[in-house]
Amino acid sequence: MNQQRMQATLSHSESSKATEVLWHRVAIESFGGPDVITIVEEKTIPTPRAHEVLVRVLATSSCFTDTIVRRGRYVDVPRKVPVTLGYDFVGVIEAIGADVTGLNVGDWVADLTMIGSNATYVCRPANRVVLVPPQLDPAEAVSMVLTYTTAYQMFYRVANVQKGERILVHGGGGAVGTALLELGQLHGVEMIATASSKHHSLIRQRGAIPIDYNAVDVRDAVMEAANDEGVDVVFDFLSLEHFKMSASLLRKGGRLVEYGMHGFAKGEGTMGQGISAWLRMNLWNTWTNLLPTGKSASFYSITKYRKKHPQHFREDLSSLFHLLHEGQLQPLVSRRLPLTEARQAHEWMEEGGVEGKIVLLP
Ligand SMILES: NC(=O)c1ccc[n+]([C@@H]2O[C@H](COP(=O)([O-])OP(=O)(O)OC[C@H]3O[C@@H](n4cnc5c(N)ncnc54)[C@H](OP(=O)(O)O)[C@@H]3O)[C@@H](O)[C@H]2O)c1
Repeated sequence: MNQQRMQATLSHSESSKATEVLWHRVAIESFGGPDVITIVEEKTIPTPRAHEVLVRVLATSSCFTDTIVRRGRYVDVPRKVPVTLGYDFVGVIEAIGADVTGLNVGDWVADLTMIGSNATYVCRPANRVVLVPPQLDPAEAVSMVLTYTTAYQMFYRVANVQKGERILVHGGGGAVGTALLELGQLHGVEMIATASSKHHSLIRQRGAIPIDYNAVDVRDAVMEAANDEGVDVVFDFLSLEHFKMSASLLRKGGRLVEYGMHGFAKGEGTMGQGISAWLRMNLWNTWTNLLPTGKSASFYSITKYRKKHPQHFREDLSSLFHLLHEGQLQPLVSRRLPLTEARQAHEWMEEGGVEGKIVLLP
């Protein structure tokens, strides 16, 4: 055991003896609205297993996807409670397991956990975490993990957007939407974005033409903004009906990237209806890809993509940290809250209208 590892283990076991509250986590004991959220007080610091690192979290997102988990509608998370919420974190390693090599106490790391990140401490397998440059603002850095990696992989790896192409971003004021617009601006593409009017000045700042989805016929307005030529790529997370409308806006060679079922995620319809919509969407995608229209449609999921291409996740997140460090990205963190105010964050997300990210700081 090296000196650093021993010190970490010692300070860890000393604090384990404490009886006062040492840290908190955001948990649910049943599925439902924001009121099911409880803040659990913990009195012992967890011990990392041999292949794990113990991380003190510096920043963790509170994002729309957490609200889906909270409702029990997130298919990738088993419908089991109690569960600690939290999709991602950035933190500092406080102790390392006996078999871990290549990481040290004091290193800054990040991971996408799906659940468990809304906590002061997390233990993670060492081979999953990605190093973070320590000079970064933790709240901006954590925006890179779920939100920007989703945007980045859809933009570069799935749609393979080319300079000079025209893209349509639905929900351009939200977390993933603002990230897509920032990447589009950096990459030099023409952009149109749907959003309610309160987000329009932000959307203009990010170089896109805004369209108020509450006030106009979206299809007509996009065609008008696109000089009746259509668009090359659409990013859509709304519903199968909406995907069909988006596909009708694509010109030859166009790509539709789907990444959510927002109505279902917000609690609309039964689980059975959600599953049926999911199956119909897969059939429709297959059919769209078979038709000789030159258009394609595919569903992106960050967790499934990471499972299939773990190295891409690592490379893409590292590239994003690099861009952030270089000052080329300015993620919009609209609210920074103490971890213990997670319920408030969920209430704001339910109300809608949040621009960019909400970040919890333990
Ligand atoms: N597949 C994946 O791997 C993946 C990864 C991350 C997120 N997601 C999903 O992506 C979606 C967006 O996530 P997020 O974190 O960006 O959420 P968010 O920050 O809450 O943003 C959602 C945005 O949707 C807008 N919106 C709602 N209805 C709309 C409509 N009919 N037309 C256009 N915009 C509409 C809202 O705009 P207003 O404020 O103007 O109403 C809001 O800005 C969620 O469903 C999430 O679960 C999927």
